Amino acid sequence: MLIKRADIKDLSVLIKIEESCFTPLERFSRDIYLEYILSPYSEVFLECEENKVIGSLVLLKFEDCLYIASIAVLPEFRMKGYGKKLIQFCEEGSKKLGLSRVELHVKISNKIAILFYEKMGYKRVCVEENYYINEDAYRYVKFLR
Ligand SMILES: CC(C)(COP(=O)(O)OP(=O)(O)OC[C@H]1O[C@@H](n2cnc3c(N)ncnc32)[C@H](O)[C@@H]1OP(=O)(O)O)[C@@H](O)C(=O)NCCC(=O)NCCS
Repeated sequence: MLIKRADIKDLSVLIKIEESCFTPLERFSRDIYLEYILSPYSEVFLECEENKVIGSLVLLKFEDCLYIASIAVLPEFRMKGYGKKLIQFCEEGSKKLGLSRVELHVKISNKIAILFYEKMGYKRVCVEENYYINEDAYRYVKFLR
């Protein structure tokens, strides 16, 4: 298994992952991915196994925090530990950078992702009303030190 930085030539595969993993209203567009790839404040990664793409991860760095803007594993590879590997990658990266925590938002209806984050040790901080279009979000955090 390999987690590698995505670049502009990976835009099509990133869009395919979006289409397989998120509803039209939830998906990041090509332009948003382009911005995330080019910005010095964000990083986009692809998770691969023997040249097959398995999933993606978008991270934003704030002062003392790494923020998970997106995490996705293609449906046919779920429940095999690939999501956990992406989370571990993100936490190891945060520790190397000396950051105190990882944060994320999740739709309150996304029961699977909530189970996943709680299994990974994330704690619910609060509800943020209308964080998404027509839906509230839970904010989760994991302190690393
Ligand atoms: C959330 C997501 C990334 C999880 O990826 P995954 O590869 O299936 O997760 P893993 O196999 O690594 O599972 C890690 C843990 O979460 C738990 N988990 C994952 N999916 C679960 C499910 N459907 N039901 C119950 N528990 C689940 C596993 O039991 C596992 O626990 P364990 O380590 O004790 O066995 C994946 O379901 C996904 O891409 N969903 C669609 C996109 C999405 O909603 N992203 C989050 C947006 S906020």
